[in-house]
Amino acid sequence: MGRRLLLLGPPGAGKGTQAKLLSTALGIPHVSTGDMLRAAVAAGSPLGGRVKQVMDAGELVSDDLMIEVVEDRLSQDDAGCGYLLDGFPRTLPQAEALENGALDAVVLIEVDDEEVVGRLLRRAEEEGRTDDTEEVVRRRLEVYREQTQPLVAYYQQRGMLAEVDGIGSVDDVLARCVRALAG
Ligand code: AP5
Repeated sequence: MGRRLLLLGPPGAGKGTQAKLLSTALGIPHVSTGDMLRAAVAAGSPLGGRVKQVMDAGELVSDDLMIEVVEDRLSQDDAGCGYLLDGFPRTLPQAEALENGALDAVVLIEVDDEEVVGRLLRRAEEEGRTDDTEEVVRRRLEVYREQTQPLVAYYQQRGMLAEVDGIGSVDDVLARCVRALAG
């Protein structure tokens, strides 16, 4: 099994949930751009100041900024033996900016829109994430279709994509991801 991995999928597909479990099991760092940006917002850093409004509206942060953030993260020592990317790349320019050969496998977690909206509205009640309102979740789904879904064909053409059904218990989806990565 390769150790430079990407989890792809719509908002609420379970990328973060599965990435945490898989990265622990594989002993590789979980690199979540969403978590990195939310940490920057919470810390009140200059990066956080630049991205908060964009995130709250469900739009994407600029490619240049994201590429810089991820290049910096992947240059750290712990990423030398592999990584599990979650939330990057999510546009074609971001995918092209990832150095050739920077990924061994991509797993697409598939979940339908109504399941996404249900999950994220439940999370809004529990955690209060500011981009989990119904209006913003529906905008995030549109942005996914417009800007991120083209990556499915991009990685399919490179023979790197495995598709996994994201409906079911967390353990069931984890088992499917493990099988997909082993296959
Ligand atoms: P990001 O944090 O990446 O948001 P997202 O892709 O919308 O993903 P979510 O975190 O909402 O969902 P997920 O698929 O990780 O699912 P999760 O496991 O959390 O990005 C946020 C924002 O940052 C973007 O909108 C953008 O503004 C900016 N950004 C980030 N990266 C960027 C980039 N590269 N370029 C530009 N901008 C960028 O699960 C969701 C919920 O479902 C949880 O409550 C969970 O408990 C539950 N759940 C998980 N699995 C299951 C299951 N099997 N059954 C039932 N419930 C489940």
